[in-house]
Amino acid sequence: MSIDVPEMSSTEAMLDRADANDLDAILAVSNPYVDGIVHAVKDNADAIFTWDYEKGARPALNKLYEKAKKSQWNGETDLPWDTVVDPEELARNSVTNAPINNALDLTGTCFEKWDEGDWTKLNIEMQNWTLSQFMHGEQGALICTAKIVETVPWIDAKYYAATQVMDEARHVEVFAKYLDEKLTGHYPLNTHLGLLLDDIIADSRWDMTYLGMQIMVEGLALAAFGFIHMMTEEPLLKQLLRYVMSDEARHVAFGVLSLKEYYAELSDVELRERQEFAFEAAVRMRDRLLQQEVWERVGVPAKEAIELTKTTPEAAMFNQMLFSKIVPNCKKLGLLDAGGGWLRERFGEIGVIQFEDWTDTGEEYDDFALGKDLAAPVAGA
Ligand SMILES: [Fe+2]
Ligand SMILES: [Fe+2]
Repeated sequence: MSIDVPEMSSTEAMLDRADANDLDAILAVSNPYVDGIVHAVKDNADAIFTWDYEKGARPALNKLYEKAKKSQWNGETDLPWDTVVDPEELARNSVTNAPINNALDLTGTCFEKWDEGDWTKLNIEMQNWTLSQFMHGEQGALICTAKIVETVPWIDAKYYAATQVMDEARHVEVFAKYLDEKLTGHYPLNTHLGLLLDDIIADSRWDMTYLGMQIMVEGLALAAFGFIHMMTEEPLLKQLLRYVMSDEARHVAFGVLSLKEYYAELSDVELRERQEFAFEAAVRMRDRLLQQEVWERVGVPAKEAIELTKTTPEAAMFNQMLFSKIVPNCKKLGLLDAGGGWLRERFGEIGVIQFEDWTDTGEEYDDFALGKDLAAPVAGA
């Protein structure tokens, strides 16, 4: 079956560039988030009251809500904040490290004269940048979920979203505290992550908040936290991520369970709008992984550094694995195959479709509960 492609759906209209992979265009977008203390976005939505107070009308959401009430933790008192953190040591055992391996010949490149100290400094910056983006993303989640409390028409979803608002406040709090007290300050919000958060918040349709935040941003965060948690030996960060992940798994489940019901009723044209939104979000998240601000801070040309680092198999694998939750969840929502498989094709083009049969996150949150051993992030886990 084919459907008409609305004119606005071209890559150019979605991303302001004709080729999604145009590196010069990606790096040329100036960052609107570096000045001032606040940033305002119009959220364009009605706050919806419901007079249907029947609790448990949506049993899966009710179960999630009850689970959330029992799973609260305190970021001040439940984490070992007296741990001494050495940023150099932390950067050594991290998947956020500069993805350049010894096999790469750096002769004649911007890294030719770099010594051990330069690489260490770069890795420390990358660590700081990565955790800073998580912190900003957590604030995006805080704002998005507060918006969902207002806009979703179902009482069980309002109840659950209210618990997520509390979770996200705690997440912003612990990432900010870790960056300020254990590392050295933080980076501004990355341009591409910021544009994505702005788009999600500005959309008037209540399900788009869920799709952008719970499915895309939190789906990527859950995968990323899993990797960093697995790799890091720093006990405070490890525990912090473990606690945050136990909440995030519920949040992604909230998105999948809510949208599964809603998307079953949408037309092909409406689904196509969701597919395009998901693809745009995926590209923006991929663009943010280029870590443009770090290259600029350490004084090497971003384009050259990115072209060198993205060639390593480690970088390619890590960046693809970040989509290991998003793709199966999109499949479960029917977004891969709607409208003749438009999103399946796009995910194929950006090299992440191979995750479609991995476990979706609709029921997985019990496996992430505190006290359980986390399985390694592999197929079927
Ligand atoms: Fe969070
Ligand atoms: Fe979350």
